[in-house]
Amino acid sequence: MASYAKVYQQSLTDPEGFWLAAAEDIDWIRKPTTALDDSRAPLYRWFPDGELNTAYNALDRHVESGRGEQTALIYDSPVTGSKASYTYAELRDRVATFAGALASLGVGKGDRVIIYMPMVPEAIVAMLGCARIGAIHSVVFGGFAPKELAARVEDAQPKVIVAASCGIEPTRLVEYKPIIDEALTTTAHQPDRVVMLQREAARAEMTARDVDWQELVTDATPADPVPVAATDPLYILYTSGTTGKPKGVVRDTGGHAVALAWSMRNVYDVSPGDVWWTASDVGWVVGHSYIVYGPLLIGATTVLYEGKPVGTPDAGAFWRVIAEHGATALFTAPTALRAIKKMDPDAAELANYDLSAFRTLFMAGERLDPETYHWAHDKLGVPVIDHWWQTETGWPIAANPRGLETMPVKPGSATMPVPGYDVQILDQQGEQVPAGQEGAIAIKLPLPPGTLPTLWGDDDRYVESYLSRYDGYYLTGDSGYLDSDGYLFVMGRTDDVINVAGHRLSTGSIEAALATHPAVAECAVIGVYDALKGQVPRGFVVLKSGVDVEEGTLHDELVEAVRRDIGPVAAFRDVSVVDALPKTRSGKILRKTMRGIADGRDEPVPSTIEDVGVLDSLRSVLRDGR
Ligand code: COA
Ligand code: AMP
Repeated sequence: MASYAKVYQQSLTDPEGFWLAAAEDIDWIRKPTTALDDSRAPLYRWFPDGELNTAYNALDRHVESGRGEQTALIYDSPVTGSKASYTYAELRDRVATFAGALASLGVGKGDRVIIYMPMVPEAIVAMLGCARIGAIHSVVFGGFAPKELAARVEDAQPKVIVAASCGIEPTRLVEYKPIIDEALTTTAHQPDRVVMLQREAARAEMTARDVDWQELVTDATPADPVPVAATDPLYILYTSGTTGKPKGVVRDTGGHAVALAWSMRNVYDVSPGDVWWTASDVGWVVGHSYIVYGPLLIGATTVLYEGKPVGTPDAGAFWRVIAEHGATALFTAPTALRAIKKMDPDAAELANYDLSAFRTLFMAGERLDPETYHWAHDKLGVPVIDHWWQTETGWPIAANPRGLETMPVKPGSATMPVPGYDVQILDQQGEQVPAGQEGAIAIKLPLPPGTLPTLWGDDDRYVESYLSRYDGYYLTGDSGYLDSDGYLFVMGRTDDVINVAGHRLSTGSIEAALATHPAVAECAVIGVYDALKGQVPRGFVVLKSGVDVEEGTLHDELVEAVRRDIGPVAAFRDVSVVDALPKTRSGKILRKTMRGIADGRDEPVPSTIEDVGVLDSLRSVLRDGR
């Protein structure tokens, strides 16, 4: 382990030297002379005197160094039956034109732009177009309902929303325009304009505020990249926290560019010109980092896939994309592989494709269960690399650093802490626990470049949510342990965040949706095991006394309330009526105990419980599947 161990040690003992050296991989307008600014600790900033432009680094510099004719982006869309590819020169020109179009709408440095689009090349053009003029984008995942979109509009206060007329799901079209219109009827903040990319599958009806993407770019003058301070935000990405209000994770410009370029080479072992495919969505952090910014920053070719792992047309959909585009690596969530495995357990479809260029399968977004690991490894015959990180960090915290040194894989482990991250396992008192013992996974401050410097407009919430539990540490919200070889095993969240098919959701926001039903007195939502999606939400409601509702109707109304307030992505289907919820004597709902019972664990009865009998009725509800 010489190489990894040496690099890891250096990153912790000399972060200044380590990250200034990594910064050499980025083209700066003003080169940073300092790496870390700790003058406002625990709020840290990276490369305080650096200036750069991320879109220039992702596109122009590759064109200027002679890679203009190399493919930057391959768009493969089985749901529309179309494919396209863009060279670096073509993508730079489209981005420059769209940046000019945004500028013509009055968008400038520091302004926010919400991007609400499906997996189309224009989503990437819009993101990079913002970066080119120093505007801050905030991409909202298409599976969210108007209320979730509205919460993001209210918090980010965008000058412009960039959207497409529809997304295409296997069984239905998702029309975005009515979702935007509905969201904007509820928000105090109103964007000046909504730029609409019209898709033929469902064209949007335009109103006075709307501008047609095509018309806008036809008249636009291309914009040059503007200098941006390394510490200025590149984007805001909202993610679920413990409460219903999403957290606006801020990504800075300089640290992000340095960290992502470093990770592409050292974690993923990708070189300029390699074809790299991340099968996620641009609405999630994995999409931001490894569909868009990471591969383009180092001059690789990135694949943008608009479709599902199965059913478009069959269980060979992923293998077809890898073979057809010569992808050297695929990064996806375990749930996608479980979907393929369910439809084609023997992976018979693999025989139809030539996967000779394929070298590595990277998995993240949720726990990689050993069964899925073994299946993928046996069938694909390439290393299957689990790695762990989160929206907040923007790049891996623990991984098998393929570009530095390949470690033996231990199924169930995300392998080692990545250079830059001082990962420690702490007990309730904040003491480090011995190897093999589970505890809270915390990262000693400062976090490395590329990780969140704060939450949008809310330093206090950032400190309170992440930095206040253990002095001098960032709390990840996950629990786990380090084994005697230093391998990290991530076991699950310690808070009320759940992970449904690789999508991060807050049980608190699902509870808020259930509580809107007039018959509901109180409710609790927990994540329960699901063979395909890893976890699904399960609700328990106590009805107001005296209400008389038919159980089937109530069930449908509650399911609909969650779909209406959060969106289809919540995959909420199971809700039971119970007489009471298990609580402590001080009235706190015992969600951990409920989770244990739902997962069939022999959960100890907490000494603080108010009424033990409630647990028995909960067990019978779960057993009878009501
Ligand atoms: N826009 C609108 N609706 C969406 C959507 C989007 N972008 N993505 C999902 N939905 C909808 C689905 O259509 C479905 O709706 P339905 O209830 O009407 O059927 C619902 O949200 C639930 O979606 P999902 O849980 O994703 O189930 P699925 O059957 O559509 O797909 C998988 C299952 C496994 C293929 C899919 O979840 C997947 O690919 N997950 C990987 C997630 C990922 O990339 N995570 C990022 C980390 S790598
Ligand atoms: P997100 O912010 O959506 O990327 O979700 C981050 C959360 O997903 C983490 O805090 C973990 O709970 C979970 N997660 C992501 N990757 C892994 C992994 N490889 N193993 C276990 N859990 C993971």
